[in-house]
Amino acid sequence: MKTLIVYYSRTNVTKKIAEMIQKELDCDVEEITDGGKYKGKIGYMKGGMNASMGRTSDINPIDKNPADYDLIIIGTPVWASNMAPPVHTYLLKYNSQIKNMASFCTCISGGYEKTLEKIAEVSGKQQISTMFLTSKDIENPEEKIKTFITEIK
Ligand SMILES: Cc1cc2nc3c(=O)[nH]c(=O)nc-3n(C[C@H](O)[C@H](O)[C@H](O)COP(=O)(O)O)c2cc1C
Repeated sequence: MKTLIVYYSRTNVTKKIAEMIQKELDCDVEEITDGGKYKGKIGYMKGGMNASMGRTSDINPIDKNPADYDLIIIGTPVWASNMAPPVHTYLLKYNSQIKNMASFCTCISGGYEKTLEKIAEVSGKQQISTMFLTSKDIENPEEKIKTFITEIK
């Protein structure tokens, strides 16, 4: 199964998990970037507000065509119990080209259920597998990643 991991990461936590999954699956990966719109304290506040209102935000052009893949794995940090706005943008823009989806999110402690539900709702796709990682999980994420990947395969 040709797989692409698509993720957004403000402080590299989601990036680290995306890279661990990528290593296991030996698949392609695409980072959603936005020129650092949400950097710093003001970025944090803007991000929280935009996410809580379910807004999208501009993203840079992507490299990989999702239509070329059998499965897209979406990764996002939890922002105000929602996906990060750049991920929301990606989903709205490319959803029609996505055949199958799995998703994961990273967070400090909560809001992951709503985030994963929102991804399923916005995409309108049943997720093959989902995973959330709290700060505690992120210290030793191997087991959760293993389960996530087993479900995908
Ligand atoms: C704007 C904003 C809102 C956040 N909201 C939540 C939240 O609702 N629940 C939570 O547990 N963590 C929340 N966090 C923390 C991040 O989800 C967490 O640190 C995540 O692992 C960061 O991933 P990243 O390094 O890939 O950006 C928030 C972070 C930001 C920047």
